[in-house]
Amino acid sequence: MSEAQVMQDADTPLEQLDVSRSERFRDDTARELFARLRREDPVHYCPDSLNGPYWSITKLEDIKYVDSNFKLFSSEAGGITIADQDEEAQIQIENFIAMDPPRHGAQRKTVAPSVAPTNLAELEPLIRERAADILDKLPVGETFNWVERVSVELTARMLATLFAFPYEDRHKLIYWSDVTTASPLLMGDEGMPEEERVAALTDCAQTFMQLWHDRAGGEPGNDLISMLAHGETTHDMIERPKEFLGNILLLIVGGNDTTRNSISGGVLALNQYPEEYAKLHANPDLIPNMVSEMIRWQTPVIHMRRTAQEDTELGGKQIRKGDKLVMWYLSGNRDEEVFEDPERFIIDRPNARSHISFGFGIHRCMGNRLAELQLRTLWEEIQKRFRKVEVVGDVVRSPNNFIRGIVDLPVQVHPY
Ligand code: HEM
Repeated sequence: MSEAQVMQDADTPLEQLDVSRSERFRDDTARELFARLRREDPVHYCPDSLNGPYWSITKLEDIKYVDSNFKLFSSEAGGITIADQDEEAQIQIENFIAMDPPRHGAQRKTVAPSVAPTNLAELEPLIRERAADILDKLPVGETFNWVERVSVELTARMLATLFAFPYEDRHKLIYWSDVTTASPLLMGDEGMPEEERVAALTDCAQTFMQLWHDRAGGEPGNDLISMLAHGETTHDMIERPKEFLGNILLLIVGGNDTTRNSISGGVLALNQYPEEYAKLHANPDLIPNMVSEMIRWQTPVIHMRRTAQEDTELGGKQIRKGDKLVMWYLSGNRDEEVFEDPERFIIDRPNARSHISFGFGIHRCMGNRLAELQLRTLWEEIQKRFRKVEVVGDVVRSPNNFIRGIVDLPVQVHPY
C-alpha cells in the first residue's frame, strides 16, 4: 500500500474503515489504524468487507471480556477467523479450537498432556541440542534468510518430535502448515490455488491416517497421534474425517507458524531497538522476560473471531445475535492503557506477560509453555555463540490478516 493510501486511511470516515484487508499486514500499516480505532471507536462496526460485516474489538479489556464469555460469543457458530468457512470447499475441517463446550473441553483434555510440564522438562535437552545444531551450521560471513535456516527449521524439528513424525519427512509438516494458512479466504488473491491445497491436504490426511492406524494398534505413547488414537473421546476420530484432519492441522499450525514468527520477530525487534540488544548482553537473565516481550511485540496470531449468540451490549454498542466479532490481538497488545509506550520493544518491560498473544479463557493457547521454552532455549544458545544477529536487508511479510508472518529476514551472524 502506498503512503498516499495510508494517509487516505487516516482520513477515511470511521464507518468506511476496514482494517481487515490482507495487504495492510503485508505492509505493516494496520497498526496505525488500530491505534485510531482504540482512540476513536474501540468497538467498531465495519458494514462491508471481503468477509462481510464485522465488529472490531481493539482494547485489551474488551478482548478479554469477549474471549472469556464463551456462552455469549461462540467459537463454533462461525469459526475462529474473520473469513467464514467456505461451505463449498472440497476439503472441510472441524477442530477443537473452533468448538464450544462440552466437545471442546473433552478433546483439549486428551491432547493437553503432550505439552504438560513433565513432558516439557523431558523435551528441553532435545530442543537445546537441536537449536545448537542449527546455530552451529549457520554460514558465518554470508547473508542468509533467518526464517528458513532457523525459525522454520527449529519448529519443524519440534513438531516432528511432538507427532513422532518420520524425522526425514519433517518438511512436509511445514508445507502442510503453509498450505493451511495460505487459504484464499485469509490471503485473498495471493492465497494458494484450491487444487493445490486439496492435493496437499489430501496427502496430509492420508499420511496421518497411516500413522494413526500404526499407533492405534500399538501401546499408548506420549506423542500427539498416539494420544488421540487412544484418547477416551478421540479414539474414533478417524471415522470423522473433517474432525480428524481439522485437529491434525490445528496442531500443525498451532505449533509451527506461531512459534516460527516469534523467533523471526524477535530478531527483527532486537535490531530495531539496538539499546535492548545491549541490555541483553549486559544481563542474559532477562531472556525469559524478553521472550514474553517478543511474543507481545510480534503477536503471531493477529485475530480470533467469535459469533454473538444473543443480542448484547459492548462498549456502548448494540451487538445483534449472529454478528461477527473480531478480537484484534495485535491491537490489544498495543493498548496504551495497559502497555506504556506500546510500540516500543522493551526486554525488561515489567508487564510483558500481560500480553494477549496466547488468547484468554477456555481456548487460551495450549502450547504456550512449549513456545516459551523453545524461544528461551534458542536465545540462550544464540547468546553463547553470537555477539549479534544482524538484519542486513528488508523484511518481507506475508499478506495475511490471521497469522502475522515473516517470510524473509536477511541476516548475518557475528560470532564473539
Ligand atoms: C508463540 C507461539 C504461539 C502463539 C502466539 C499461539 C497463539 C494461540 C492463540 C491466540 C490461540 C487461541 C486462543 C483463544 O482463542 O483464546 C491458541 C490456541 C491453541 N494453540 Fe497456540 N500459540 C502458540 C504456540 C503453540 C504451540 C507450540 C502449540 C503446540 C502444541 C499450540 C497449540 C494450540 C492449540 C492446540 C490451541 C487450541 C486451544 C483450544 O482451543 O483450547 N500453540 N494459540
